[in-house]
Amino acid sequence: MAQFTLPRNSKITEGKTWAYPTGARDVREYQVYRWNPDDGKNPRLDTYYVDTGECGPMILDALIWIKNNIDPTLTFRRSCREGVCGSCSMNIDGTNTLACTKAADEIKGMVKIYPLPHQPVVKDLVPDLTNFYAQHASIEPWLKTTSPTPPKEWKQSHEDRQKLDGLYECILCACCSTACPSYWWNSERFLGPAALLQADRWLQDSRDESAGERLDNLEDPFRLYRCHTIMNCAKACPKKLNPAQAIAQIRRMMVERQM
Ligand code: SF4
Ligand code: SF4
Ligand code: FES
Repeated sequence: MAQFTLPRNSKITEGKTWAYPTGARDVREYQVYRWNPDDGKNPRLDTYYVDTGECGPMILDALIWIKNNIDPTLTFRRSCREGVCGSCSMNIDGTNTLACTKAADEIKGMVKIYPLPHQPVVKDLVPDLTNFYAQHASIEPWLKTTSPTPPKEWKQSHEDRQKLDGLYECILCACCSTACPSYWWNSERFLGPAALLQADRWLQDSRDESAGERLDNLEDPFRLYRCHTIMNCAKACPKKLNPAQAIAQIRRMMVERQM
């Protein structure tokens, strides 16, 4: 049965306010979600003051500055620092996005940072994306063929290659799926916009020979059809992709194969 109140131990409490950096000329206030599974305490919001003269322009720069200069226990994921790996996704100023490509200047006033919404939290800003990755694996994101393997390579025309534009660029950051209300309520059964965009990427690939099998795998009241075209996914995507459009494309293929 749906639960409409938060469990007592998940309510966010007021956290620690850390010291102002000494000698700083320009300071920015950050409020950051903290939760440690090992201390048995509720999550809290800590306040940090970042010396902007000493720190790079992006939100990820500020988090790294906090970790290096104020609080080494602050935990978050990051790798490429260039919007390529998808690991620094989090909720910044109320929007899911990548910390490494979000400039602090784009935000007015205090910067509020939470983990991606509606996912279990591992620690602080690190969400547990086990289910998200399993859903990606379930669409079998690789080329599936039945023809004999060609001696050199599977060829593709330029026109067919272009059909993958807007699909192949996905970095699996999960900003879209964790912004999707249908995914919040049915994340065990609805594949969500990211996995479905990836499913479409393989359905549109002229070299793939398993479209029928792929569509059979999606023919389900939840896996595909829980999308209600709310469009949060397209708004949230930091790579400017449109998962809702990809989902509509899969639905069209479902109809066309009945004809
Ligand atoms: S369009 Fe579909 S997948 Fe995208 S946010 Fe809305 S319900 Fe979710
Ligand atoms: S579609 Fe966009 S928001 Fe969704 S996982 Fe891929 S890159 Fe991230
Ligand atoms: S650190 Fe790789 S996308 Fe941000």
